[in-house]
Amino acid sequence: MPATDPALQPLLDALQFSPDNLPLRQHLGELLRQAGRHQEAETLYRDGLHLAPATPALQLGLAEAYFAQRKTSAALVVLEELLAAGPASGPAYLLHARLLLDEQQPAAAHDAYQQALRLDPHLADTALAAKLQAAAPAQPVAAAGLVPPPPAPAEQARLLGLEKPKITFQDVGGMEAVKEEIRLKIIHPLRFPDLYKAYGKATGGGLLLYGPPGCGKTYLARATAGEAQANFISVGIADILDMWLGNSEKNLHQLFELARSQTPCVLFFDEVDALAANRHDLRQSAGRTVINQFLEELDGVSASNEGVLIMAATNAPWQLDPAFRRPGRFDKIVLVTPPDEPARTSILEILLQSKPLAAGVNPAAVAARTAGLSGADLKAVVDAAVDTRLRLSMQSGQPLPIEQSDLLGATNSIKPSTKEWFATARNYALYSNAGGLYDDILVYLGLKKPEAGS
Ligand SMILES: Nc1ncnc2c1ncn2[C@@H]1O[C@H](COP(=O)(O)OP(=O)(O)O)[C@@H](O)[C@H]1O
Ligand SMILES: [Mg+2]
Repeated sequence: MPATDPALQPLLDALQFSPDNLPLRQHLGELLRQAGRHQEAETLYRDGLHLAPATPALQLGLAEAYFAQRKTSAALVVLEELLAAGPASGPAYLLHARLLLDEQQPAAAHDAYQQALRLDPHLADTALAAKLQAAAPAQPVAAAGLVPPPPAPAEQARLLGLEKPKITFQDVGGMEAVKEEIRLKIIHPLRFPDLYKAYGKATGGGLLLYGPPGCGKTYLARATAGEAQANFISVGIADILDMWLGNSEKNLHQLFELARSQTPCVLFFDEVDALAANRHDLRQSAGRTVINQFLEELDGVSASNEGVLIMAATNAPWQLDPAFRRPGRFDKIVLVTPPDEPARTSILEILLQSKPLAAGVNPAAVAARTAGLSGADLKAVVDAAVDTRLRLSMQSGQPLPIEQSDLLGATNSIKPSTKEWFATARNYALYSNAGGLYDDILVYLGLKKPEAGS
């Protein structure tokens, strides 16, 4: 397209003489973009924004012009400034969806697309919907722009994962200090609220479990519900992703409402860092809304959380938004370390429970040789022993029980998977340990003496 398109030139000349004629500038920008002259459109919108900063139509035009030139980051910066200023138009959200998809953020892209459709159903774009669906196959219905009908209450409870766990602290090997802390801080206040009130002790507030993967955080949360004879709702990473995709704030509210209607109830957010990541990391406004909603629910703004124990687990507490650790929120934080020797024994006993064992098998002796291994690592040990025995059984043509030597042999080949985690954790504990938040890590690593009474 030549720079001196005869139809456009008079308009371009006119704008030269009245640069602050916004409707003309907008119209011309659109014509330039239609003609594929995106770079000129970019200049025109940018000049316009110098004259009239924060004009939504110009911001959107500039973002479109950037997008057409595949300057995704620049487009996002401009567009998100527009979106941050308040409610925006359908086309703005539609462009946001496209940009987020380009940025490999299908969940957020989905949210933006939904918002665009809510504002203007005519913006439906089958090609974009198909791409969103391909990027997030877990949400086929919502991806097509359709909202499924709300399920019946019982069905909803099942969908949201309400259960009554059978395991208690008895099934959790070792970890005596952690169990005691949970009893004192959350189970007793739930059981004896009046006693706590009589002594002026505050109840409520959530408990955050953190530590290396595979060391029993999820298991412990479930056992806490069993120990407290409470209902248990576990919100996993997939549910959290759903929140990002669909009606996020509403879903989160529903979860809390379900917990409030089923007291006593443990409401557990597993891998909460996915939900509660530092808000500065979240460029998209959708994410911020979910987090603010989460904070409101934690604070019990709309309804009391009496009788609801809120727990969360994370492998990366340093990624959590500090707002989550304020009083009344996740104000109790407990390190779950790799299992100690009694814990390893009981984990091994559980893992070996239903397997054919030779007379000499001794879990305690295996536990003594596996310091530093996580629950998941111990499972790998047992799996390797089973493999060895299975191979030998194949050769001899008959099933042979697992021998102690199979287990001990396997311990040589499995290395602790938690080393890397502690290397990272150590740095946070040493260099960004505000208020002694990560002192437990230093104590565990032998870099600090335990405090008396803790
Ligand atoms: N103290 C323990 N007692 C019994 N089993 C345990 C214990 N710790 C971990 N396990 C076992 O190890 C598995 C992995 O633990 P999990 O809770 O998934 O770890 P995390 O959530 O910390 O990544 C559990 O399913 C459980 O079978
Ligand atoms: Mg877990």
